[in-house]
Amino acid sequence: MSNDRLIIFDTTLRDGEQAPGIALTPDEKLAIARQLAKLRVDVLEAGFAASSPGDFEAVSRIAREVRGPVIASLARAHPDDIDQAYDALKEAERFRIHVFMSTSPIHMEKMLRMTPEEVLKASVEGVRRARRYTDDVEFSPQDATRSDPDFMIEVCRRAVEAGATTINIPDTVGYATPSDFVELMKRVYAEVKGDRDDVVISVHCHNDLGLAVANSLSAIHAGARQIEGAINGIGERAGNTSIEEIIMAVKIRQDVFGVEVGADTRELFETSRLVSRLTGYPVQYNKAVVGRNAFAHESGIHQHGVLRARETYEIMDAESVGQRPAQIVLGKHSGRAGFADALQRMGIVLEEESFNRAFAKFKQLADRKVHIGEEEIRAIVEDESVSVEGAVQMVGIHVEGGHDVTPTAEVTLSINGKVETFRGQGDGMVHAAFAALRTAFGLDARLVDYRVVPVTSGADAMAEVNVVVRVGDDTFAGRAINTDVVEGSAEAFVEALNKARSAAG
Ligand code: KIV
Ligand code: ZN
Repeated sequence: MSNDRLIIFDTTLRDGEQAPGIALTPDEKLAIARQLAKLRVDVLEAGFAASSPGDFEAVSRIAREVRGPVIASLARAHPDDIDQAYDALKEAERFRIHVFMSTSPIHMEKMLRMTPEEVLKASVEGVRRARRYTDDVEFSPQDATRSDPDFMIEVCRRAVEAGATTINIPDTVGYATPSDFVELMKRVYAEVKGDRDDVVISVHCHNDLGLAVANSLSAIHAGARQIEGAINGIGERAGNTSIEEIIMAVKIRQDVFGVEVGADTRELFETSRLVSRLTGYPVQYNKAVVGRNAFAHESGIHQHGVLRARETYEIMDAESVGQRPAQIVLGKHSGRAGFADALQRMGIVLEEESFNRAFAKFKQLADRKVHIGEEEIRAIVEDESVSVEGAVQMVGIHVEGGHDVTPTAEVTLSINGKVETFRGQGDGMVHAAFAALRTAFGLDARLVDYRVVPVTSGADAMAEVNVVVRVGDDTFAGRAINTDVVEGSAEAFVEALNKARSAAG
């Protein structure tokens, strides 16, 4: 790779997935990994293989099935972690082991209870062990920005001597600012990389002060040639660097950064939607690049300007990031051919069975809603493509509530082909529906997250409902879209409970 190439290291499935309330199944992780490969990220951190059997399985499947990016797994500088990372990665086309060890006083004293000498030794041994398996080894001194720079740099130098080929400087707690970070990175570049062409300096910034993207970009000026981040900026606490913002910043401001990326920017919007849908983390409307308003012009002056010449108020073309102005509108009278034509114009290809199910859902919606636009068509299709077939299917729901009535729900389900009705009561109608479903599934499922986001605007808008439930020690997510919030909530709950049921065997 040329010196002017910026490596995009995506950690949506590792650091991104550590965000509270995200519970992706291995299938969902694989779907995201495939989309990241389509986006053409350079390195895809698929998980932390040693952290749980679920992570191990996800990393192994992605390593086996996804081609294109280098597949990475995180590993502490412990022999077991490194061996497990290798075991999970070994079937990949190309793979990387990412070894990390904290170097800040607070982490060493309070968390690791290790002396600086022990940290140095374990880091070197960790990198050496990883090198037995691959010549693509990354080392990260965790909490680098709160470490003694002399010590942190010494650990990195020794990691390079032990065989690390990428040195990644994490701003683990989002403490850096662009000016101090660039100074630190200049030192790392000079003292760790020096004139070694085979070593790449990388950054990994968190967003606690809202500076992750700014800090990452500043590091390019100090010679960093890899940036780590996650789609939609998801991740621990306030999240990680937003990959989509980095990609577009270096593309649009090539004059400032002077680096190139290999990403196919037209896949950005689709990737963002998929990650949002499967994680249940909504994308803020005004989010740069992928927000639904990123290319919307409200004021008359702006609209007038854009109609004359797009560049008056836009620095990038919506289509270059995969956003398209919504134009297609269907309604009650649209038939199979009209629906098929709309899908074709939107570039969506469905197998016949999926098409039939999506069309049935479209007709149900058309009975309730006059105009069905692209957003809704997409939501129907996406709902179809992720729906997990469980033994239990919702047939119908009837709720009663009101000022002086205890909210009651009757949920009718098809369980192994047998139709049964279950009742529940609660503080509200959604609560009552969940109570009925808990009885139906016979599961002690605690609701840990519940979100309702409108897919479109207007009183008859479709809502997307995301739930996360905890059953025992495991969490399961469910999602549904519906114009009726109570019905959608029950459908999402059923999806999550179906997953719990199938995990229990
Ligand atoms: O934020 C961090 O320090 C990390 C490392 C493990 C790279 O995620
Ligand atoms: Zn991190």
